This record gives sequence, structure tokens and C-alpha cells, in this order.
Amino acid sequence: SKLDYLQWLGVNAVWLSPCYPSPLKELGYDVSDYVNIEPRFGSLAAFDRLVNEAHQRDLHVILDWVGNHTSAQHRWFRDSRSSRSNPGRNWYLWRDPKPDGSAPNNWVSVFGGSVWQWDAATQQYYLHTFLDSQPDLNWREPGVRAAMFDSLKFWLDRGVDGFRLDAAPLFFKDPEFRDNPVNPDYKPGELPDGQLLPVHTRNQPGLHELFADLRAFVDRWPGGRVLLGEFYTPIEELVTFYGTRAPELHLPLNLTLTYSSWEPGVIGRIIAQYQGRVAGRGWPTTTLDTHDQERIVVRAGLTQARVAALLLLTQRGTPTIYYGDEVGMRGVDIPAMQAVDPQGRRTGRNRDPTRTPMQWSSDIYAGFSTVEPWLPVGADRGNANVASQSRDAGSLLTLYRRLLELREAGPVLREGLHEPLAAGPALVA
Ligand code: NOJ
Repeated sequence: SKLDYLQWLGVNAVWLSPCYPSPLKELGYDVSDYVNIEPRFGSLAAFDRLVNEAHQRDLHVILDWVGNHTSAQHRWFRDSRSSRSNPGRNWYLWRDPKPDGSAPNNWVSVFGGSVWQWDAATQQYYLHTFLDSQPDLNWREPGVRAAMFDSLKFWLDRGVDGFRLDAAPLFFKDPEFRDNPVNPDYKPGELPDGQLLPVHTRNQPGLHELFADLRAFVDRWPGGRVLLGEFYTPIEELVTFYGTRAPELHLPLNLTLTYSSWEPGVIGRIIAQYQGRVAGRGWPTTTLDTHDQERIVVRAGLTQARVAALLLLTQRGTPTIYYGDEVGMRGVDIPAMQAVDPQGRRTGRNRDPTRTPMQWSSDIYAGFSTVEPWLPVGADRGNANVASQSRDAGSLLTLYRRLLELREAGPVLREGLHEPLAAGPALVA
């Protein structure tokens, strides 16, 4: 029902976070069936209608494809865990304990604790990079590959325009499961897996070949489908995922600005480094916010939100806007103890504040819902909402809209070359 708004705003595509059947232990990033829609969110028929209506408005629809792990409730995992001799045993990463019974290696879960969960019934450990209810798939198993490629086919045939590959650099693990070295620069407060350097858990052999195969696969569908990837990797590594020997992802997302401090020197250096490295390799992206980081308004302040919009929408390449940033939503400060987000409860880094309901109006539930939503509505909904700001020529929303119009109007902002200017320490120019 809000597609007209997206069209009016001037965006070209919408990326949905996972809406597949899921026990929602990790808000949908725990998929229990890759080829259906979670009943709490709708149905396949509703989804088809969404795609159809979006296409009528020249809007593309991109799905979040969670390939690193499934829900423990997925049939594949239930089979795999049922016995050591089950044909699906090897679809996940099962290992024997060390001789003293302890976990196979020192790898740490993103959400804290070991990545290894003991399964008493079959007397082995299984690996989970995130929650123990999110077991990691074994991408070296041909059955996994075939089943996961089939899930892409299912959505591509329904007209989906592309996928965002969740946790993209993590799909493969070291085949020998060697210990990761300690990270001497780890700072308390960072996510727990940062205690170790991801030498044997990130960007492992097989990853580039998989991406090249995925690219060749989606390229078989007409109309141009797109692959985005979520990468928390250094820029020099990020740009390799455009592909070296064969094309890989169209848009490996550059997320560096989502967690860097809002200081001109820092931002200017990142942009210059990134644009320099991307040149000649692929098409750049700019992202200031995702559902995993603090909102820009919180990091930079409300007045800087206008500057942030200008920065985001005047870079060379494809920008992504996180819902609500265009009206300057602050989110809600929710203590980690009360978090819906399991990362918040386990690590103190609560992502709920960033994920509160979109503010369409100043109504009690901000026009998002007629019943109380599972996260609270922002106290700033009186002004940070679409209804008020769409009538105000000086609003942040109007600025977003006009910048998007300007990008659309000519090639300079989209395709022009990037040249940093020496403008002193207080400016990025
Ligand atoms: C990346 C997603 O963006 C994040 O929200 C999620 O917690 C992890 N992947 C695990 O699925």
C-alpha cells in the first residue's frame, strides 16, 4: 500500500529483509523454508501482487537471501541432526570434539560464545556463526548448492529482480577448521567474534567460484537481475567481489560508512580510497545506514542529517537509503535487557533502536499499524513523519526527493568522476 510513496520519493528498487517462513528467533534471518512467505507477513499470493504492483511503477524488488545458515527448524537441519547416517548429515558442519571433549576449535560466534554447539543425541558438535538456532550450511556439499540455487530459481521465476546475499564472505570455512589468531586490536564493546582475526572463517577457498556461478545463474533470466552482497571486509578485499577471472556480484555493498565516525577527515579518506579502488573494476555503492547499525541521525545529529543526505545522494554509483532516514527518524532508545534483537540481549549491542516502525504520520502507531507493534514508535513521530514532511518544502524528506530527482535528471551525479578537493579538515569536498 506504500508503493506510490516509494515511486513519489524517486527510488528505483526496494530491498526487503527476509520474509520467508521463520521462527523469527533472529527476526527472519533464521529461515525455515526458502520458497515461501512467512504467514505473519502475508502469503505467496500477496507477494506476487507486491512484485506485480511494484513493476507497474518501475520499482524493482530485491530479496534478502540468507545463504550462510538456516533456522534449526528447517527440514534440512532436522534431517541432518536426526542421525549420523542421515543422507543430509553433511549438509551442515558437524565435527567430533577434541580428545578432551571440548569444542573442535576456538572460533567465536558473532553473538558471543563458541560457534560450536554440542548435540548430545549424535555426539558431535555443529557450527553456528550466529545463534545456535542458526546452523551454518556446508557449501562444499553439492546437495546444498543445488537446493539453494533452486530457491533462487523459484523467486527469479516469480519476477524478483535480485538478491542481497546475507553474510556474503562467510559462506565457506577453512576445510581444516584451524584456530583463528587472536586480534590484538579488539576493543571491548565490539561484537564478540572480533576477538579473533577471521583468517580461517572469512573469504575462504570456494567463495569466488560460488559467486561467479551465482552470477552466471541469475544472468540466465531476462531483464537484468542484480546481486548485492553484504560485506564487512576491508575495501581492497571488497572490490575483488566484482570478480577477477569471471564476473561475480554486481554490487558488493560498501558498508564502511555505516560504522565509521562522522568526521570529515575519516569520511573523505574512505570515499577517496573506495572510489579509487573501485574505478575500472565495477560500479560503486554508498550506504550510510542498515538495520544492523545506529542510524545516521543518532551518529551525526539531526542537523547533519541534511549533510548526510547530500553526501549519500551525490556519490558516484548506487546509493541505498534505509527506511525512515529520509524523514530523519531517530529510532527509540531500547535498553539491551528489553531487546527483541537477540544480538542486543547477548552482546549489549542492541539493534532494536534502528528497527522501530516506519513513521508515516504522527498517529499513535505512526500510521504503521492499527495495533501495538512489536517495537515502540519513536517519540519524534510528531515531526519525523512522511505526512508532515511531504507538505513542507524545507523538510529533510523534500531534500531527499529533490536530490533523487537531480540524480535522475542527468548523468553527472550518477556517473561523473570523483575527484577529492583539499578543503581543509572541516569539510569533505
Ligand atoms: C546479516 C544481517 O544483516 C543481520 O541482521 C543478521 O543478524 C546476520 N546477517 C545473521 O543473519
